[in-house]
Amino acid sequence: MKVITSIQEMQQYMKSLKLEGKTIGFVPTMGYLHEGHLTLINKARSENDVLAVSIFVNPLQFGPNEDFDSYPRDFESDRKLAENNGVDVLFHPSTEEMYPTKMSLTAVVHSRINVLCGRQRNGHFDGVATVLVKLFNIVQPDRAYFGLKDAQQVAVVDGLITDFNFPITLVPVAIVREEDGLAKSSRNVNLTPQERLESTKLYESLQMAKREIEKGQRNPKVIEELIKKHITGHTSGVIDYVEMYRYPELDELSELKGRIIIALAVKFTKARLIDNITFDV
Ligand code: PAJ
Repeated sequence: MKVITSIQEMQQYMKSLKLEGKTIGFVPTMGYLHEGHLTLINKARSENDVLAVSIFVNPLQFGPNEDFDSYPRDFESDRKLAENNGVDVLFHPSTEEMYPTKMSLTAVVHSRINVLCGRQRNGHFDGVATVLVKLFNIVQPDRAYFGLKDAQQVAVVDGLITDFNFPITLVPVAIVREEDGLAKSSRNVNLTPQERLESTKLYESLQMAKREIEKGQRNPKVIEELIKKHITGHTSGVIDYVEMYRYPELDELSELKGRIIIALAVKFTKARLIDNITFDV
């Protein structure tokens, strides 16, 4: 496995592989790799000649009061995991390499952001889109893999690839969970043992909601209240949002019909957790 920290070297190396006619799969990450990331990596491994993974904690997508400094990092462990999972090229630039000076031009996302995390995290998706424009130009992948754990991010990347004509196929990958249902996340290490026990209630509430809809409940407000009650009744977390939309458009639901997403975000003392389910009604 090659580890590259220089943008120029990465761009030249990827270009040489493309000239050899190799297909390139790309998994962008912020590191602290877990089974969620590894599922994306294994899928990309099986579908492409070359597998590139990036590890870069992108300051542009963190707000002033968010966890950029405390975001977990362990490059040595990530390097081993990447190597053991068949990664060919690990791109690990420094912040100075990616942002040597203040950007003179950045991406601004207009659609699909006034809901869910976009509404709570001002500028977050602009930061994600900006770093992805850079990473896509550096890596030049044929396919890029994103997890549905961040379903709104998938919707935003879908718009970015279409609107900016990147010759890249977006591959969404299902959420990977712990055995007790908690969606795997690098931030889960910041839960206290008690919060970790409570955190299973998030997915439990989403499944309850789905069952109610399957039984015939068609009022989104009733479903949202049911979820909120389950979470506030069984956890010490503070609800940021519980929302339902059409997916992937993230439009308001005039009626509960078609492909929908139920998504939530809950704040614990040192970790803000998100989860969602998408399904057809
Ligand atoms: P990060 O949070 O490291 O996640 C990298 C990728 O792994 C994302 O596509 C995310 O959805 C996916 N992922 C994380 N946990 C998952 C799980 N439990 N199941 C399925 N997929 C999971 O998302 C980012 O980094 C950044 O915003 C990035 C795209 C790298 C831009 O900086």
